[in-house]
Amino acid sequence: MKDFSKQDWWKEAVIYQIYPKSFQDSNGDGIGDLPGIISRLDYLEKLGVDALWLSPVLASPQVDNGYDVSDYRAIDPMFGTMEDMRALIREAKGRGIGILLDLVLNHTSDRHSWFLQACQSRDNPYHDYYIWRDGAPGELPNDMRACFGGPAWTYVPALGQYYFHQFAPQQPDLNWDNPAVRQELYAMIRAWIDEGVAGFRLDVIDQVAKDPDRKITANGPRLMDYLRELNRATWGGRNLVTVGEAWGADIPRAKLYSAPDGSVFSMVFQFEQMCLDHEPDKWVPKAMTLPQLKASIARWQQGLHGCGWNSLFWDNHDLPRIVSRWGDDGARRADSAKALAVALHGLQGTPYIYQGEELGMTNAPYPLEDLRDLESINAYHDMVAKGMPEADALAAIHRMMRDNARTPMQWTAGPEAGFTTGAPWMKVNPNHTEINAAAALADPDSVFYTYQKLIALRKAHPVFAEGDFTLLCPEDGQVFAYLRRGAGQELLAAVNLSGEAAAFRRPAGFAGAPLLATQGAPQDGVLRPWEAQLWLRSL
Ligand code: GLC
Ligand code: CA
Repeated sequence: MKDFSKQDWWKEAVIYQIYPKSFQDSNGDGIGDLPGIISRLDYLEKLGVDALWLSPVLASPQVDNGYDVSDYRAIDPMFGTMEDMRALIREAKGRGIGILLDLVLNHTSDRHSWFLQACQSRDNPYHDYYIWRDGAPGELPNDMRACFGGPAWTYVPALGQYYFHQFAPQQPDLNWDNPAVRQELYAMIRAWIDEGVAGFRLDVIDQVAKDPDRKITANGPRLMDYLRELNRATWGGRNLVTVGEAWGADIPRAKLYSAPDGSVFSMVFQFEQMCLDHEPDKWVPKAMTLPQLKASIARWQQGLHGCGWNSLFWDNHDLPRIVSRWGDDGARRADSAKALAVALHGLQGTPYIYQGEELGMTNAPYPLEDLRDLESINAYHDMVAKGMPEADALAAIHRMMRDNARTPMQWTAGPEAGFTTGAPWMKVNPNHTEINAAAALADPDSVFYTYQKLIALRKAHPVFAEGDFTLLCPEDGQVFAYLRRGAGQELLAAVNLSGEAAAFRRPAGFAGAPLLATQGAPQDGVLRPWEAQLWLRSL
């Protein structure tokens, strides 16, 4: 059982992300909830994960599915009660599983009492909790755009001022330059630590120290001071796991964020690999080659070794499904899902599994009326307004839209995939009749058991957590192969990330039985389509 008091326990851990709205409904309202999560803890224990990151469950009008918080100290009634949350923390802990809360500290909901008061008058004490500029209707402070479309400034006529928002107008940015804001947030975080959470995921945390007049959002001037202060005032020295979401992180910054002295976070989510296959505009595809992807992974593996810590992920609630993106979601679905899993889980860092990834769940190219996410719906309407034919606009958003990841978890082949007894808030993927947890658990050769094995191997062999990284055959367009060396062991990962057989010769010293092989007994000199192997030897 996981020992959460062990120093840096998260270095050997695997974390599972739950999107609560779509995980398991317990009361038939069509929305996943905390009791639903509790009812699935046995499944998660069987998979072997050490901690669960819950996307936001705090009180929220749900404009951005909980990433718009109206009360940081209350559970949204849609998800349950504070008692349910305590029960989840307790029940999970009993299975050696920690709970990570998702903290959205960059902005609140426009229904948060701070913002409601801030809008009352310029001299209200909460006014300075947000970022305001004087202006007249139609004369915006500058031309900055918001992430989900439209300007980054919204006018409040009663005040004669604009407030700043990097995301939707219903998500006003907090003013971190106001010390009172920071102290309120720290006190709230301490209260959650007292509830017994194992850590936190920090939403868009590199965007909190901004300077809108100079159009700076990520990596603002006082960012590191604020983050070190945040650490000291909250989780510093407590051995919790913390992961910051940092779209603007490069390797030097990631080293600061994940410094081994524990002064900021345990690790960050960086997005270099996840941005290789599209233009800065996420809706515009760009060709990506395997050598490019491998070079990027290698740079991060080597760049943080011994002086920082990587987080490892293919999927999350903002990304399309990896098997549809870089695998094969047709005939070779299971093989490609396993190959991608092995490629990632052999690396140094803390792996994250997004709900359903362990089943090889796929994208969901639904018609517009079945989509739910404001980002893709806004983007669609923008494209159509600019003259793009409707069918093309829909095709453009299908590839990268966040709703791909947000369809209900597929538990069974039965009605609504066993997710709810009511009408689900978002349509269940019709392929649940084939892809579902019940079928996966009954099939010893399923994607689920590859994930289970990978998690167990990370705990059994120290080279997974400690080893360094050497990329093999960097120019090969099919094979991703690498060596990890450390703790008296050497690990070889050999993965064919293509649908054709690929030539591959193992380096000397790796013979006998492999540690893991996804397609039966290995052949010499070749990897079958989407075949993956791990080999281990003592040094
Ligand atoms: C993060 C979240 C995303 C959310 C955004 C604004 O990127 O992962 O889901 O919409 O922040 O809070
Ligand atoms: Ca429910």
